[in-house]
Amino acid sequence: MEITVIEILIIISEAVWLIFPAYIANSSAVLFGQGKPVDMGRKLSDGRRIFGDGKTWYGLFGGILAGIAFGFGQILGSGIQFPNHHWGYGPVPNAYLIALLIPVGALLGDLLGSFIKRRLGLDRGERIAGLDTYDLIIGVFILLLIFQFNWFFETFLDGIRLIALLTIFILTPLLHRFTNIIGYKLGKKKEPW
Ligand code: CTP
Ligand code: MG
Repeated sequence: MEITVIEILIIISEAVWLIFPAYIANSSAVLFGQGKPVDMGRKLSDGRRIFGDGKTWYGLFGGILAGIAFGFGQILGSGIQFPNHHWGYGPVPNAYLIALLIPVGALLGDLLGSFIKRRLGLDRGERIAGLDTYDLIIGVFILLLIFQFNWFFETFLDGIRLIALLTIFILTPLLHRFTNIIGYKLGKKKEPW
């Protein structure tokens, strides 16, 4: 079977479309972040915070809800034209489960990233190449692999569909940088990364 440029462009645009709720969740967490930290100030036996002050309940739930709202909007919108496809989400009701798992995975990945940073002795906001950028994506992929293995395989791993995976890995550092500069300019982030 021959693969056309159009097919490749469709795969790339589906990947961008599908990972959008993760980026929405992550950047909304910055906007909503305030109040009590998720770890309630608690420390582990290494004397360091579990997650640190950069992970708050408002950020976590505000971000998750914003990401879910966006994903459900995508499904409702694309369903008019593509009722069995939803531009990559697949058929309803499973599509809605995927739209729920993506933002939840993104912010759990972000939490896990902070957990690892604290265990490595890094303070809130200190930078760590790779982890800061890809923590959300790792979280999304873990949840999808556990709860949506078949869909995940068909969408991101199966032969030519690996282009979708590659797209996300290339796009993430660019979008991460972009949203963090905006967060910094809005005064929501102390550092532009
Ligand atoms: N934020 C939040 N709750 C979350 C995620 C983010 O309140 N679950 C807010 C915090 O105000 C945080 C900001 O968004 O400072 C930026 O997020 P991030 O870069 O992930 O946190 P850092 O402050 O850099 O902390 P860490 O070192 O733990 O990554
Ligand atoms: Mg950070």
